[in-house]
Amino acid sequence: MRVAIGADHAGFDLKEEIRLELEKHGYTINDCGCASKDSTDYPEYAHQVASAVAGGTADRGVLVCSTGLGMSMAANRHAGARAALCHNCDSAYFARTHNDANIIVFGARYTTFLDARAILQVFLGSHFSASERHARRITKIDACGETV
Ligand code: RB5
Repeated sequence: MRVAIGADHAGFDLKEEIRLELEKHGYTINDCGCASKDSTDYPEYAHQVASAVAGGTADRGVLVCSTGLGMSMAANRHAGARAALCHNCDSAYFARTHNDANIIVFGARYTTFLDARAILQVFLGSHFSASERHARRITKIDACGETV
């Protein structure tokens, strides 16, 4: 599985730990940055990761900032990107099975590496339920209020 990852300065340390962990388990990583803890702007990394996932060059995305909020907002501007801010394994499970989320977002100020590792395992190992009702609802997300 190809995973694009990105973080701003606030998420840098957690992103690095996640990258090493995923590489250890054989995932192909596209690290979109940032490359240090110097102050930087989270949308730059959200857009790179969301473009990779929505464009099909990555199967999943991982984004980290301080709260996870700005990354989620920026990534979800991309049609076809479904970014879910997850604080626990339960939300990661439903993000995949109900929402077919293809990007997981962490808030580094709330999530330890050990928690992120467990949450990621659920996110990367769970599958969309593909039931008619969930597929219909996802279609309505992309329709942005138009009748479908
Ligand atoms: C950076 O200070 C912080 O605003 C950013 O990491 C993120 O939490 C934005 O939503």
